[in-house]
Amino acid sequence: MGILDKHKKLETNATLLLVCSFLVVTVGGIVEIAPLFYLENTIEEVDGVRPYSPLELTGREVYIREGCYVCHSQMIRPMRDEVERYGHYSLAAESMYDHPFQWGSKRTGPDLARVGGRYSDEWHVDHFTDPQSVVPESVMPKYAFLSETLIDGEHIDELLATHAFVGVPYSDEMIDAAKSDFRVQIDPFGDIDGLLERYPGAQVRNFDGEPGVSEMDALIAYMQMLGTLVDFSTFEADASR
Ligand code: HEC
Repeated sequence: MGILDKHKKLETNATLLLVCSFLVVTVGGIVEIAPLFYLENTIEEVDGVRPYSPLELTGREVYIREGCYVCHSQMIRPMRDEVERYGHYSLAAESMYDHPFQWGSKRTGPDLARVGGRYSDEWHVDHFTDPQSVVPESVMPKYAFLSETLIDGEHIDELLATHAFVGVPYSDEMIDAAKSDFRVQIDPFGDIDGLLERYPGAQVRNFDGEPGVSEMDALIAYMQMLGTLVDFSTFEADASR
């Protein structure tokens, strides 16, 4: 009996075909899924990626509250036009501490994954206050009220603790220091050594140029660090992992 005849048997017997299909799908499924359970982490670790500083994390909360993700994505796809416009494609590790992630699915405005450092703080203040003042054709809404909302970081330690609960490696020391780190980041004359030790590369300055910590400060601190943690002049993708 040739192989074709054997196959004919399979194709003409519904029960046999069903049983064999089930077997094939089961084995295939196990082969695909089982290795994932033996990997400690499916995300390749990358130098430079660290949890958000208290002020940056607060800015991220503002970003989520205002629904910026409705118009902006934070994920550069590995396609030539995107890489040429926005920079190196996004790495999984770059959003590993994002709860919830902000990849987004709509781009009414540009991708923001690497917007950090692209504009000055003053540009951001002008742009958030009145987007059309710097980009006349912009359809982005005004967020001037962010300058008027001062925040004292009263619950910032609880916010860090919550992120620690879902797996972000905030240590007890970081949670204890959260309230002071929150204020120190906008005070260039403050005691910034501890902050920089806990959050290497954190940018310290008065982001909106006004006294006090406002939601504007927090949002700009967040904007200015996006995509800046990994040094892509030295980064090499590790295909062996
Ligand atoms: C209704 C859609 C919409 C919403 C909501 C929106 N934006 Fe925008 N955004 C745009 C558009 C369109 C542009 C491009 C024109 C411009 O620069 O204003 C833009 C530009 C930007 C830029 C400049 C990016 C670049 O690379 O030039 C930043 C930064 C930005 N938005 C941040 C935000 C933040 C933060 C929020 C939430 C507080 C937000 N946007 C909400 C539509 C939106």
